Amino acid sequence: MASTDLKGRDFITWLDFDREDIETILDTAFDLKRKWIRGEPHHVLQDKTLFMLFYNTSLRTRNSFEAGMTQLGGHAHFLQPGAVYTPALPGEEQAYSTERIADVARVLAEMGHGIAIRIYGKPTGWLYGKGNLIVREFARWSRVPVINMEDDKYHPCQALADVMTMMEKLGDLKGRKFVMSWAYSGSVEKPLAVPQSAIIGASYFGMDITLAHPKGLDLDPEVLQAVERNAKRYGGSFKVVHDMDEAFKDADVVYPKSWTVQPTDGKTPMDPEKAKAIFEANKHWITTKEKMELTNGALYMHCLPADRGMEVTDEVIDGESSVIVEEAANRLHAQKGLLALIL
Ligand code: CP
Repeated sequence: MASTDLKGRDFITWLDFDREDIETILDTAFDLKRKWIRGEPHHVLQDKTLFMLFYNTSLRTRNSFEAGMTQLGGHAHFLQPGAVYTPALPGEEQAYSTERIADVARVLAEMGHGIAIRIYGKPTGWLYGKGNLIVREFARWSRVPVINMEDDKYHPCQALADVMTMMEKLGDLKGRKFVMSWAYSGSVEKPLAVPQSAIIGASYFGMDITLAHPKGLDLDPEVLQAVERNAKRYGGSFKVVHDMDEAFKDADVVYPKSWTVQPTDGKTPMDPEKAKAIFEANKHWITTKEKMELTNGALYMHCLPADRGMEVTDEVIDGESSVIVEEAANRLHAQKGLLALIL
């Protein structure tokens, strides 16, 4: 595999990178994972600091970045809007409670080596694209790399861990059937970032991708077009269906999770009442043992946290085909590969 120089690059979406770049990150991740398992030192980021700004809650992302920076010899610093002046776009500032992103980004860049941000949903007024705009505004002003820890469009670090896990379990992914399916949840507050990044990730490696969801739960058309382009470029395929059983048939990997009814025009916010009505009409979109039996012995994947009894039964998520813990653990290793290269 060829390798590329990624030092100083922002990591906001896979779509800013080509497959060689992603392979370089994954190669590095596998290498660092082996070193970690063997107990070999790998302090390649000695004395470096990553600032992590969380507008939303997190278990996996926060702890994998924090532990990852420690294992690489550096430090990750947790920042919470409200406890620091909330970084804001021009025109959205409030005296002595917010601080313009241009100033926050430039100041943090003088003190550390990377800035990572999570922002989607409520802090953006559920206006699609605003989270991504905020992450890009940081990148515009920061002279150190900016990492997207999940915005309203993309969760690129999750996709690294997802692809890494599939490679570990299946080897070559080309021609394997990957199903990204919507699933019911009691919450309508899950963004589109994970399903969009998962199908983008699968499209870089020639997988046969099926996206399944009830009508009205469409993903961003720009993302779907990018996945179609990648499928042509990398020798895979892409189709959308509206039936969970049809999607699961002969699948090698299923990734059923909930996402909200999100207008993607950038002007219309998510409407919780409208979303709730569509969700409640589709409670049968739950992954059960019977649905898993339709597959080709598929891996069950989920980014977590999962809504048990809604998105999936305990029997499936705790069953033999589930790789959820390995997938979450690979957040650590995948991000260490990324950090080692871009910082
Ligand atoms: N999958 C994921 O991003 O998990 P957290 O929300 O816990 O960070």
